[in-house]
Amino acid sequence: MALLFKSNIDRADWWRRELNKYIPDLEVRIWPDIGNPDEIEFALCWKMPHGELAKLKNLRAVYSLGAGVDHLLADPDFPRHLPFSRVIDPNLTGRMTEYVVQHVLNHHRFCQTYDAQQRDGVWKEHFAPFASERKVGILGMGALGSGSARALHLLGFDVAGWSKSRKNIEGVESFFGDDQRDAFLARTEILVCLLPLTPETENILNRDLFAKLPKGAAIINAGRGPHLVDEDLIEALDSGHLSGATLDVFRIEPLPADHPFWRHPKIRITPHVASISDPASVAKLVAENIIRTKNGEPLLNAVDPEKGY
Ligand code: GLV
Repeated sequence: MALLFKSNIDRADWWRRELNKYIPDLEVRIWPDIGNPDEIEFALCWKMPHGELAKLKNLRAVYSLGAGVDHLLADPDFPRHLPFSRVIDPNLTGRMTEYVVQHVLNHHRFCQTYDAQQRDGVWKEHFAPFASERKVGILGMGALGSGSARALHLLGFDVAGWSKSRKNIEGVESFFGDDQRDAFLARTEILVCLLPLTPETENILNRDLFAKLPKGAAIINAGRGPHLVDEDLIEALDSGHLSGATLDVFRIEPLPADHPFWRHPKIRITPHVASISDPASVAKLVAENIIRTKNGEPLLNAVDPEKGY
């Protein structure tokens, strides 16, 4: 019983150990050393080179190594007919919640301004409103967005979420559907993007959307790089309409050394680390899905390739 494993982080041996705790006879073959491709029945991957999965004649299921699946569905030859799952995991949600809370607080409490003042030796106070007066908006209310919204609500922020359908989360105002998007944006001072990347959401963080946010708003993108139109962000920051941006994801990763984001004074960059699947937590879920695949049962956290999440 063989599983193809492909990641861009060097943790393959750890994944193998964790998976073997649950399924001792699972052979974990690390891309590109997969031996005889006809022996591969399962694939656990992050960003496979296009066309490679389609070559595996006996593949029975594909498991995304992350919450997102855009990196796999971008492959025109992706085997869309196979059972397909993604990661929804309390620790993945917990880490994303930490990231979102950290950076919402940074914007709320003017951290970028104080960093700049420190560089120049400037002592100048800026007063933040009460958290209850600070309006945070989460674009995308799946597992990650909902977790962040709950935590921000507990900290006292005025939190709303926007999603395709209505969400019932205590203390979090739900805006849904295209009709309610402008009203959601008009009230949002700190916008957090945690949408899945689909043809509908690509380029959603653009000039028109920024214009609908109140002046001085900040954005945090921990969704995907292609959600954001890079030039439109720079324009909105330079004109002073937006006050700052925190970006964890980029169209090209690693972000090229000459990209203007690196040196922009109002942009804070992290290298796609907001939340990462941890073998100690996620291997159990993958093992369960391998067993379900073998038994012909529906997968946990199954993905609909048509919807893209
Ligand atoms: C990371 O970006 C993920 O999709 O989990």
